[in-house]
Amino acid sequence: MNRALEPRQIDRLIQAATLVRDQAYAPHSHFYVGAALLMEDGEIVVGCNVENASYSMCLCAERVAAAAAISKGYRLWKGIAVASVGGVSPCGACRQFLSEFGLELPVVITDVIDGSYKIRSLKQLLPEAFDGSLLPTHA
Ligand code: THU
Repeated sequence: MNRALEPRQIDRLIQAATLVRDQAYAPHSHFYVGAALLMEDGEIVVGCNVENASYSMCLCAERVAAAAAISKGYRLWKGIAVASVGGVSPCGACRQFLSEFGLELPVVITDVIDGSYKIRSLKQLLPEAFDGSLLPTHA
């Protein structure tokens, strides 16, 4: 299966992730992140980071977007873009969280300062991933 994103899809994802980044609630770190997930039917579902005075409760943009997509009934994703200053790639927790829904996912990592980006598969970002197949309850 060809999982590569088309240029137009990359543009749409970067635009959506950059736009939702403006909604980030990050009064503690002042590090604002936006994420946009492309669904199989072309819809885009977004999320931003949401911080809390109890730091460990902070939500990353990627997980907010993923939970929103699942809540809308979408489990098949074509790609995700993550927008921040400096173009940070998803943290380890987000890599694991996203991997539940497929390791082939293309991750577009973009720097909002100059619009540059790079693309990595989730599998590249999370080699030797843990998955549910080893759990005793796995069917
Ligand atoms: N953050 C994200 O939203 N995504 C990432 O991939 C890295 C970090 C957020 C979490 C926290 O609100 C802030 O950035 C600083 O860590």
